[in-house]
Amino acid sequence: MKAELLSVLRDADDYVSGQDLCEKFGVSRTAVWKGINQLKEAGYEIEAVPNKGYKLLSVPDTLSEEELKSIRKTAWVGQEIFYYPVIDSTNTRAKQLAEEDYPTGTLVVAGQQDAGRGRRGRSFESPQGAGIFMTLMLKPELSPVNAPMLTLRGLAIIASAIAARCSIKRPNDIVMNGKKVCGILTEMSAQMDYVNHIVIGIGINVHNESFPEEIAPVATSLYMETGEHFNRAALIEEVWEQFEHYYAIFMETEDLSGLVKEYDAHLVNRNQIVKVLDPKEPFEGKAMGITPRGELIVDTWESRKLVSTGEVSVRGIYGYV
Ligand code: BTN
Repeated sequence: MKAELLSVLRDADDYVSGQDLCEKFGVSRTAVWKGINQLKEAGYEIEAVPNKGYKLLSVPDTLSEEELKSIRKTAWVGQEIFYYPVIDSTNTRAKQLAEEDYPTGTLVVAGQQDAGRGRRGRSFESPQGAGIFMTLMLKPELSPVNAPMLTLRGLAIIASAIAARCSIKRPNDIVMNGKKVCGILTEMSAQMDYVNHIVIGIGINVHNESFPEEIAPVATSLYMETGEHFNRAALIEEVWEQFEHYYAIFMETEDLSGLVKEYDAHLVNRNQIVKVLDPKEPFEGKAMGITPRGELIVDTWESRKLVSTGEVSVRGIYGYV
């Protein structure tokens, strides 16, 4: 009942009477009172006024199943939510849930990851309470060749959900003032022409005040860049609301035609000279934007080149960004 109680208090503009809550949930006044107290103990500030009822004044930045369920406004993302205070990796758990027949849209969120994974076997710093570590599991009717575009689309959505000052750095980072604030790890289980499942793992540095020496030059957090402590649950909800909206557009065409403008607007090196770290042959050119297939358009002195959505990194000529 805690999540539902929280949901009613959240949605109400004014006080909600104890009587209304009893009737709504078919429980006694004592049960409502107990529920309210549990929420208070968890850090929710709830005012109780005789003859008026209860009013939610503020919410803590704690992640919990109740918090995530009560704030959820999405239609299908997060219909099943799993929250773990500590887990090895939300991507690993989401893959297990896919195998266990959980439906598309299942969301896994953690307060901390012991073995958070990044691309190319790297680890992802995931200290308790500092960030958002979450994975969405999808079972889309989508051709496997089109799946990588989901990451690109995800980036544009997260960038706009987080803050106007965020930019996209290919292939899958979001940066603020030249440093990485968010990474995405998309993994897929597929056959030749059929996707079994895709997991989209997103790590956002939210409250971190510093980073280990080895990543400090390239890593940052929302707090370090804005001085603001973002509410993680609200940010999670914002990301998935936007995701649902654009996912429907994406699935109509199975490409990014509906998102090119949004993506280009956030592209960090747009109209600047970049170095494309293609293992076969690195080259430099001017980044122009993306095609509806998600390729980066790079104009070199000789010709226009299209950089595909794979593992090719793109850097400004002077460093990480
Ligand atoms: C990268 O920057 O290389 C990708 C980082 C992706 C990190 C997220 S955190 C949630 C999810 N679970 C993981 O183990 N990794 C992703």
